[in-house]
Amino acid sequence: MVMLWSTTVLSSYVASQVAATTSATTMSLEREAKALLESGWWSNYSNDTLQRCNWTGISCNDAGSVTKIYPPSGVIKVGDKFKNMDFSCFLNLVFLSLGGHELNGTMEDFMFNIGNLSTLRHLDLSNNSLYGRLSTRLGTDLRDRFLRLFIF
Ligand SMILES: *[C@@H]1O[C@H](CO)[C@@H](O)[C@H](O)[C@H]1NC(C)=O
Ligand SMILES: *[C@@H]1O[C@H](CO)[C@@H](O)[C@H](O)[C@H]1NC(C)=O
Ligand SMILES: *[C@@H]1O[C@H](CO)[C@@H](O)[C@H](O)[C@H]1NC(C)=O
Ligand SMILES: *[C@@H]1O[C@H](CO)[C@@H](O)[C@H](O)[C@H]1NC(C)=O
Ligand SMILES: *[C@@H]1O[C@H](CO)[C@@H](O)[C@H](O)[C@H]1NC(C)=O
Ligand SMILES: *[C@@H]1O[C@H](CO)[C@@H](O)[C@H](O)[C@H]1NC(C)=O
Repeated sequence: MVMLWSTTVLSSYVASQVAATTSATTMSLEREAKALLESGWWSNYSNDTLQRCNWTGISCNDAGSVTKIYPPSGVIKVGDKFKNMDFSCFLNLVFLSLGGHELNGTMEDFMFNIGNLSTLRHLDLSNNSLYGRLSTRLGTDLRDRFLRLFIF
């Protein structure tokens, strides 16, 4: 009887944990979809976020979470729409490549948005109109964290 009781409690605990994990994951995937849509970066190409892992310049992991963002600059120009992307929604982003996207602004502004994405390992912001210097602290932090970094 005691065994049965504890098994029931345990399995309902496990079930509630699984449900909590699943809903957290679903929620974070929905945040990613919303961020991609609201960025407007792909609005000329597709608004169908159900297909987002198949959009040009997007890669996802097996769970459907975005790992790479690399819109081809010949098809999509991010330009002033850079600021519309809420990068904080991407918890698994390792690769961001925005070379030749007519980005214009100070390096510090751009790094404010993406410099603290802890999963990011490859960053390419080359061939844009970024100016100004990075603070030494941010520069050192970036150099230590990234495997590949092309910012000028
Ligand atoms: C996506 O939505 C925007 C805004 O509603 C619209 O202007 C655009 O034509 C849509 N793009 C596609 C590919 O359907
Ligand atoms: C992705 O797009 C290609 C064509 O561009 C299509 O053949 C394929 O079925 C799509 N995959 C998914 C999962 O929709
Ligand atoms: C969408 O298409 C318009 C017209 O061709 C172009 O001016 C604009 O730069 C494109 N936007 C993106 C994000 O590629
Ligand atoms: C980076 O940190 C700043 C300051 O703490 C914060 O406002 C911003 O939202 C963070 N960005 C991301 C992408 O997490
Ligand atoms: C730089 O980007 C522009 C488009 O903004 C492109 O036409 C040019 O070929 C790129 N140059 C290099 C060296 O990649
Ligand atoms: C970049 O922005 C600055 C300030 O807003 C502006 O003066 C400059 O013309 C812009 N450059 C390009 C290439 O868009």
